[in-house]
Amino acid sequence: MTELENPSSPLVEVVDMKVHFPIRRGVVLDKTVGYVYAVDGVDLSIRSGETYGLVGESGCGKSTLGRAMLKLTEPTAGRVVFDGIDLSSMKGEPLRTMRRRMQMVFQDPLSSLDPRQSVESLLVEGMRAHGLDKGKESSAKRLRELLLAVGLPSTSLRKYPHEFSGGQRQRIGIARALSVEPDLIVADEPVSALDVSVQAQVINLLEDLQTEFGLTYLVIAHDLAVVRHISDRVGVMYLGGLVEEADSDQLYREPLHPYTKALMSAVPVPDPLVEDRRERILLAGDLPSPANPPTGCRFHTRCPWRQETRCDTERPALREIDPGHRVACHYAEDIRAGRIRQHAVEAELVREDWDVVPDDASLAGPASVTETLGP
Ligand SMILES: Nc1ncnc2c1ncn2[C@@H]1O[C@H](COP(=O)(O)OP(=O)(O)OP(=O)(O)O)[C@@H](O)[C@H]1O
Ligand code: SF4
Ligand SMILES: [Mg+2]
Repeated sequence: MTELENPSSPLVEVVDMKVHFPIRRGVVLDKTVGYVYAVDGVDLSIRSGETYGLVGESGCGKSTLGRAMLKLTEPTAGRVVFDGIDLSSMKGEPLRTMRRRMQMVFQDPLSSLDPRQSVESLLVEGMRAHGLDKGKESSAKRLRELLLAVGLPSTSLRKYPHEFSGGQRQRIGIARALSVEPDLIVADEPVSALDVSVQAQVINLLEDLQTEFGLTYLVIAHDLAVVRHISDRVGVMYLGGLVEEADSDQLYREPLHPYTKALMSAVPVPDPLVEDRRERILLAGDLPSPANPPTGCRFHTRCPWRQETRCDTERPALREIDPGHRVACHYAEDIRAGRIRQHAVEAELVREDWDVVPDDASLAGPASVTETLGP
């Protein structure tokens, strides 16, 4: 039995992944004055046929992790093993061939689709690059199949991206990813740019395609409701690290990491009785900069359960607390059992130790939890 035939075997494994972006200063002497620790030691594996949801505040490293998994961003350290093959040292043609099996769907279909290319040319491009364009007739048939699969009319082929609505453009983006018959699709905020009314349609389409083509997904989203709906398992990221991971239902029923608890407590529950009795956890202070992450547990500057010992000196490992439920908190068991109680958090000022403003505007401080992780 190959890896792909066994649904419980990992299709992709990320081992101790690090992506550190240098912060440079000086026009003449291009000096590195620090690093943005965008991804800093992540281990995760995605099983063949499952949907893994990745959530966390803006700037915590979700997109960078997704890109590094496909080797679109070169990792600083760590390994990616895809279907049993280590991609770490793979380059050139072998990597290009491998990439066919790992495709990406982006947040903003308008900027990820070349406006000068017709839908036909957008779809044929990848097929041609990977030798899947086998003559006029078979390609025309394949294009018809692709459009049908994503719910677009066959008249779409001659049109250009700007002639479509946002939801339809995302369908083109999905068809383009599908055109090369991938195994894994990394969908980075696939519905965030769409109207709420269209979001559910695109999510349903992704689910239907998964069943039809046996796809494996990594879905990155800041919207906890989207992730819950679509994911089998969910990973929560905070400042470059994975802080909790569990089956979707289990994570939403009983979040164990203080950060996940805070995220969940910000999402309203439809039942008014449950809503009234719910524990609210308000996070004090802003998200620290990934260029200067706190020592020890990265969440200690905002954690309402922080303890005098260990929290600010020892980085907690992501460890299994229940079967399949991993948590990176020294005191997860004590918090669950109520042996440690919430206390007020003094917002700590996190000093920037680099005095340059990077060119990349995206390095500006990310927004707070309540702004970025609404319902
Ligand atoms: N090419 C780059 N060069 C330098 N820094 C970068 C680069 N790409 C990302 N970063 C920085 O790395 C950190 C993680 O960014 P990333 O885009 O992965 O976060 P994210 O979780 O996807 O955020 P969002 O929810 O806003 O998309 C941020 O501080 C970001 O500014
Ligand atoms: S290790 Fe300490 S600071 Fe970190 S989440 Fe657990 S209790 Fe909070
Ligand atoms: Mg992102």
